[in-house]
Amino acid sequence: MASIKALLPLLLASYTTARQCSNFLIPVDITSRQGEFKKVPVESNLDIGAFATRCSEFQSNCSAKLLRKRRKIQLLNHGIGFDKTYWDLDYNNYNYSYVNTALAAGYSTLAIDRLGIALNVVTTKLRNGGIPEIASSYNKVIHVGHSFGSVQSYWLSALYPNNTDGVVLTGYSVASQFLPYIVAGWNLHSARLNQPLRFGNQSNEAVRNLATQYKFDSNLIPGLQRVLENFGVDLTTNEVWNIVASTEILDLITSLQYAFLHPDNYDIGLAVASEKTKQPVTTGELLTIGNAPMMSPFTGPVFVITGEHDIQFCGGNCYGQIPGSNTSTIPAGVKMSYPASSNFESHIQPGTGHGLTFHYNATAGYEVIQKFLGRNGLGA
Ligand SMILES: *[C@@H]1O[C@H](CO)[C@@H](O)[C@H](O)[C@H]1NC(C)=O
Ligand SMILES: *[C@@H]1O[C@H](CO)[C@@H](O)[C@H](O)[C@H]1NC(C)=O
Ligand SMILES: *[C@@H]1O[C@H](CO)[C@@H](O)[C@H](O)[C@H]1NC(C)=O
Ligand SMILES: *[C@@H]1O[C@H](CO)[C@@H](O)[C@H](O)[C@H]1NC(C)=O
Ligand SMILES: *[C@@H]1O[C@H](CO)[C@@H](O)[C@H](O)[C@H]1NC(C)=O
Ligand SMILES: *[C@@H]1O[C@H](CO)[C@@H](O)[C@H](O)[C@H]1NC(C)=O
Repeated sequence: MASIKALLPLLLASYTTARQCSNFLIPVDITSRQGEFKKVPVESNLDIGAFATRCSEFQSNCSAKLLRKRRKIQLLNHGIGFDKTYWDLDYNNYNYSYVNTALAAGYSTLAIDRLGIALNVVTTKLRNGGIPEIASSYNKVIHVGHSFGSVQSYWLSALYPNNTDGVVLTGYSVASQFLPYIVAGWNLHSARLNQPLRFGNQSNEAVRNLATQYKFDSNLIPGLQRVLENFGVDLTTNEVWNIVASTEILDLITSLQYAFLHPDNYDIGLAVASEKTKQPVTTGELLTIGNAPMMSPFTGPVFVITGEHDIQFCGGNCYGQIPGSNTSTIPAGVKMSYPASSNFESHIQPGTGHGLTFHYNATAGYEVIQKFLGRNGLGA
């Protein structure tokens, strides 16, 4: 319609002022609250008629009836070196996403940037609807941790056993003897110097100029791609990432691989991409990681899932035998910390290192978690 109107004045242009009309798109930023509704069959006209009949009943709120109420939520707590995106990596269209796996199983999730001391308060707020941005309140909160996030979820279950309904500890065991090796293996550097654009003093003129020149912004990866594109290198293949990531100039992943990744079972492009969300660790975190209570009085279900070759919690072999322990795997030994648990199970994720999310087949392991919850009265 607008374009027709726009043409008419042109015909009359010789004796009246032309109107200036055009079609265009207006980009807007929107935020919305998304409800998820139960499936409504709309195959046949009878289906559609039935929907209209049911949804037009006097004083009945059809939206409320069909709104899927997610009363169970998983509170996700990441480990050292990561942030909340660990649970929902966008790499390869979210192909490694824990969040997607949990949503597909019917859960809501909340991933927080770990501030351990706040975990219990956040949990209580989820229960009483005290977070304005989250429309619902939840009567079941399941605590899911990774690594140090698992240590903290364990602590919560020990200190506030009534405030959790289920505990899932990923990348975890109670064997502490391997931790010193990993702290050495981390090859710790000053965050300020390692990633000056994200953690450093950006007033450094030379770094700033380079960042502007190559549009690094806060994100290393696209910048790096642009630099290499100038030399005709197309950084889309795993093979090229492999070369780039393992040269001395871009030695990004040698210590990452030792600490988090099992060789040959991950996509190197993903490992390089993970640099963009790498987070620092503090001395305070390292000084308190080992002070957890020996036992948790929690009475609900507990699941532990750890990569077969996890170095920090299994010394690289979760089937190894800890002297004095009689459990068939190292993660199975966590059972001793949960003597009152209604059901304790552990699972070894094959071919996988400490950073479970980063390995091929990660989501298959994550499905095992959802199934455990389903079997233990915590199904969505
Ligand atoms: C119907 O239910 C929806 C979802 O709970 C709610 O947002 C809406 O306000 C309700 N409408 C009325 C008229 O009560
Ligand atoms: C996602 O992962 C599956 C299984 O590992 C793989 O077959 C598929 O190609 C992947 N898709 C993408 C877009 O990476
Ligand atoms: C936790 O649950 C136990 C057992 O049901 C109960 O005795 C105790 O009072 C509860 N504690 C709190 C803080 O709610
Ligand atoms: C950053 O470095 C500059 C130059 O050395 C100094 O003047 C400035 O105070 C520093 N800023 C911060 C926040 O440390
Ligand atoms: C294994 O160890 C636990 C805890 O020390 C003990 O309760 C249990 O009896 C042991 N089982 C066997 C078969 O030795
Ligand atoms: C993928 O993970 C699932 C769940 O742990 C496991 O059963 C399966 O064997 C794994 N596949 C491979 C190829 O490792």
